[in-house]
Amino acid sequence: MTRFDFSATPEHGGQLQAAVRRWNIPRAHWLDLSTGINPVPWPVPDIPPEVWHRLPEQDDGLEEIIRAWAGAPDSACCLPVAGSQAAIMALPAVRARLHGRGRVAVPVPGYREHGHAWSRAGFEVIGIPQDVLEQEDLSWLDSVDVVVWIQPNNPTGQILAPALLRAWHQRLQARAGWLIVDEAFIEGAPGFGLEPWAGGRGLILLRSLGKFFGLAGIRAGAVLAEAGLANQLACELGAWSVSGPTRYLMGKALADTGWQVDARARLQTERLRMEGLLKCAGLPSAGGTLLFQTVLHERAVDIEVGLARRGILVRSFDHPSALRFGLPPDELGWQRLSAALSELQRLNISH
Ligand SMILES: Cc1ncc(COP(=O)(O)O)c(C=O)c1O
Repeated sequence: MTRFDFSATPEHGGQLQAAVRRWNIPRAHWLDLSTGINPVPWPVPDIPPEVWHRLPEQDDGLEEIIRAWAGAPDSACCLPVAGSQAAIMALPAVRARLHGRGRVAVPVPGYREHGHAWSRAGFEVIGIPQDVLEQEDLSWLDSVDVVVWIQPNNPTGQILAPALLRAWHQRLQARAGWLIVDEAFIEGAPGFGLEPWAGGRGLILLRSLGKFFGLAGIRAGAVLAEAGLANQLACELGAWSVSGPTRYLMGKALADTGWQVDARARLQTERLRMEGLLKCAGLPSAGGTLLFQTVLHERAVDIEVGLARRGILVRSFDHPSALRFGLPPDELGWQRLSAALSELQRLNISH
């Protein structure tokens, strides 16, 4: 299996201020497509003054709202967290306390914070070999203690059959191993989440309100797990780790099923539009989710620079060389992206 250096601090999209400085283009002129965040967020209502004033209370009904929204069984604990990132950073300490350190497999390419957190906590981190994703032989799992899978993966969009993930979980659990499934982008893939099995021993599901709901700024997410593990994680995160205003907004957003249905329908249309636009520009998508598409291209950095010069921020990746396109917020944004890509095509930058 491949060994990777996860010690470097991962970089992220959405660094608009850095782009303003680097390209000397005012903030208001940028079209930021560098993240996979819904550009039309859930409309945040007013927050009652007492929510700002009082300490958050754990028995405010939020756990039941999360369970209903996620479709998890009663046996699953549904712990609100300050973004799934908070759980990603705390889980290695919980594992180390309960089972000691060991070996962890993470998807590569994939959201790099996973490998980074395990590596920082003293675990050996390896990339999940690509070939095991297509094979029924599960013996590779016997040499790892924890597997992290991102469903669907960011940035590749790769999605695995829930039956395969369940088989991984069962094989790992036979040796007290954990399967962590990061479902930050699951909203566009009904039937692919592992919620029906949430609460099973050693199965940890991470959900985020940063992506589909477009609420990255409030830092909101949830962990679905068995009670013992969820309690350990809650202790690790400490008292009041999710603010009162965040808990309040989470409760309202998760219960707003009308908005969720409309947003999913709109995003499905926009996903198709983005796939079509990229294809016309000679940059067919190699994979994606409801909220972003990823293009494999040897000149990814040149295209990123060409777009940045035109005030459009996208994210490039290496190994493999790729570009990720988030969705524009409005028609003007779509037109700008389309015009810029045509121009790069004419200049032979994106050929
Ligand atoms: C795959 C994946 N998981 C988790 C996160 C963390 O998101 P949040 O902490 O906002 O829930 C991100 C953020 O980019 C992500 O891409």
